[in-house]
Amino acid sequence: MSKQLVCVQDYEKEARQHLNKNTLDYYQSGALDEVTLRENKEAMERWYIRPRFLRDVSHCSLATTLLGHKVAVPFGVAPTAMQRMAHNEGEVATARAAGKVGAPFTLSTVATTTIEDVAAAAPDTLRLFQFYIYSDREVTTSLIRRAEAAGFSALVLTVDTPYFGIRRADIRNAVALPAHLRIANFQSAEESDTANSSNGNSSNSRIREYVASLFNPALTWEDVAWLKGITKLPVVLKGILTREDACMGVEAGAAAIWVSNHGARQVDGVSPTMEVLPEVVEAVGGRCEVYVDGGFSQGAHIFKALALGANMVFLGRPLLWGLACGGEDGAQGVMDILQKELESVMALSGCATVQDITRAMVVRREMCAH
Ligand code: FNR
Repeated sequence: MSKQLVCVQDYEKEARQHLNKNTLDYYQSGALDEVTLRENKEAMERWYIRPRFLRDVSHCSLATTLLGHKVAVPFGVAPTAMQRMAHNEGEVATARAAGKVGAPFTLSTVATTTIEDVAAAAPDTLRLFQFYIYSDREVTTSLIRRAEAAGFSALVLTVDTPYFGIRRADIRNAVALPAHLRIANFQSAEESDTANSSNGNSSNSRIREYVASLFNPALTWEDVAWLKGITKLPVVLKGILTREDACMGVEAGAAAIWVSNHGARQVDGVSPTMEVLPEVVEAVGGRCEVYVDGGFSQGAHIFKALALGANMVFLGRPLLWGLACGGEDGAQGVMDILQKELESVMALSGCATVQDITRAMVVRREMCAH
């Protein structure tokens, strides 16, 4: 990569040159009118940073912990499906890049690389496994056992997907996996073939149909209890958007509540995640960790979320842009930029450690109208 890419937006612009229309649309789309997609980003600007000075920032550390594991930065990789559509090395490249930066990596259940291959390629990366509880409990249990055996550190149950959200571009494009790729973690050839078969006349996307066939819309909190009963790994609940569900999650034994609107790909019209974060942090009240994702593209955004009480910020699309631009180097390039930007905003705001980023470091924009 010869061009100098100095921010996430540069990577996004460059990625657009590398991705075909179907893949780009699949990665960038939100649900329906994409109001929430836009608002996730806009919500970052509703908080102002309150910098403090003369506080010795000669040594800044971004180190923190996630579920008791040491990590070098307070941000990580959110699960995004089918990363080999962005680059041939896909999930392996992203996981390795995360390891180099010291960031946690979350593997999507709908990956184009197996659980075992990711573990073998990135043994030192802190790895979380994202999944859904399928109607077929044997399929679900088998995925969990494989993640446990492969040394993943936590299970991330995505709760916001009883059905796939409606993304218009994917329907128009009838987006399908290229023939040489497979949904790697599902052994049955029949299942993989369903995802791969492309029917130009279909009004539905093939991937949408495939994933829809796996989901179990009948899930309830009792199924979370079932999950807790069959694994010793910490369970993270991803997709929580209300204080009510956050409390139920804590009561169900979640090790972390992950505030997310699935990158605005499920319900158009829900709150931006930065709006929900304070409510969830308050409801959880320190009883477990709180993570957030959705629209983050800059160190200052991460800083604001940490100030609002998040323990960890996750990013989806920015890593896909990095991957598309330069595989492992590209994904690492994006994380290096975020690390430098966060370090800069911390130092310039008087925070030598992540623990120094307190609630008093941000103020709501409306509160300081002059
Ligand atoms: C996702 N996301 C997602 N979430 C999940 O739990 N399982 C998955 O397989 C996927 N797949 C996926 C694919 C693509 C292309 C995108 C953009 C997103 C949601 C993801 O984990 C995360 O919540 C959002 O991407 C965060 O928003 P940003 O950072 O993309 O704005």
